[in-house]
Amino acid sequence: MKIAVIGLGYVGLTTALGIAELGHKVLGIETDLGKISDLLLSRPHIYEPGLTELLSKHVNNENFLITDDYRELSNGIEFVFICVPTPTSENGSADLTYIDQAIAASKQHLKKESVLIMKSTVPIGTCTKLASNLKNDGLSVVSNPEFLAEGTAVPDFFNPSRIVVGAETEELAKRVLAIFESIVAPNLICDLTSAETIKHASNSFLALKLSFVNEVASLCEETGANAEMVFHGMSFDDRIGDKFLKPGPGWGGSCFPKDTKELAFAAKLYGIEMKTVEAAITSNLAHMNRIKNSFTSQLGAAPKKIAVLGLTFKAGTNDLRESPAIAIAESLADNGYRVVAYDPMVSKFTSDKIEIQDSILQACNDVDGILVLTEWMEFSEIDPNLLDIGNPEKVVVFDTRNILNSSIWSQRFPRFFRIGRSWQNA
Ligand code: UDX
Repeated sequence: MKIAVIGLGYVGLTTALGIAELGHKVLGIETDLGKISDLLLSRPHIYEPGLTELLSKHVNNENFLITDDYRELSNGIEFVFICVPTPTSENGSADLTYIDQAIAASKQHLKKESVLIMKSTVPIGTCTKLASNLKNDGLSVVSNPEFLAEGTAVPDFFNPSRIVVGAETEELAKRVLAIFESIVAPNLICDLTSAETIKHASNSFLALKLSFVNEVASLCEETGANAEMVFHGMSFDDRIGDKFLKPGPGWGGSCFPKDTKELAFAAKLYGIEMKTVEAAITSNLAHMNRIKNSFTSQLGAAPKKIAVLGLTFKAGTNDLRESPAIAIAESLADNGYRVVAYDPMVSKFTSDKIEIQDSILQACNDVDGILVLTEWMEFSEIDPNLLDIGNPEKVVVFDTRNILNSSIWSQRFPRFFRIGRSWQNA
């Protein structure tokens, strides 16, 4: 066993099991004992298609061992992936407490020449500082950012668009790349700071693209253009590409909001105002507000009953972190509307502002408005004629994901609207 993974969340668990599937023995280190016992019973805390199967396979064949004891690192571990959270504080800076704790706990047990592989997203410049701090302990630091998207983390691990390794020497980078040698993907060896910047810049650029897409969709709603047609027309230009051109209620999740804030904050420390990234953040918040106001201006003043379909930040995941759907639903509740929500991955919810129903029919029962905020495929299969609604001609339906079958919905609900289309002729 040469490889350890510290932190068994979205990134760490997928990384640990992916590496085990590549044929390595992996030691997972997790401080949450509850999570450890669930994992040993093949019950991951996160929903990622394909992950549970990998977990039971490698726990049963003992290729994946889990512990909370850092002393296990002294048993021949050579590579340690750091996959702990780096939460963002209000001002946008990253909190590196978990990183510092993981490194402090590891270095006392690791043999010299061991390599710490930073997979957590850290502020630009972090790995260079860590590398110099750990030189005296005989430890090296490498940056190996992750590009796993939630909902597709397992296929993203085995079919990455690229494997990036930042290191002080090519020899060290190649030692780390050897772990992934059976994965066919472009490899990029670069310096530590460039590797960190690739991660932040990639996510911030994707967020910027989406803020732009959502603004164009809003313009289409006002001009009468068809946003889907506009983005289809744009996609033929391979400099724009055909991905990340779907307008929605705003971007969220555990990465984009964090990475954009951190990049803008870090740049300021170097005297650089990243106005594009800051504009993407501001635009995204304004877009969420526009979505809410467009809906309520049609719906009329509170109190009214609204069904919200979808609470997760995107389909394919159970992750509610920084979800625009929740921000919009809670804002509607704050404005006096009664909000009843359904999401296939959300059975209970801490907020008392939103009532959770466990079926679409129950959530939509006798509502004044229906707001689709997450693109779950099951929403595209809803037969609107089966919904128990007294006066459908009055009900306002707003599909912010273009997931509903618009022809059958607009037949039942004349006040059916969708993102990127004018509110006159949706
Ligand atoms: C992202 C990056 O894609 C991934 O490469 C990185 O490693 C982690 O961050 P993730 O946050 O899981 O992954 O979700 P992603 O699929 O990128 O979606 C982010 C947000 O953009 C979601 O709120 C999603 O709904 C929204 N989105 C995405 C759109 O609104 N339209 C699109 O066309 C694509």
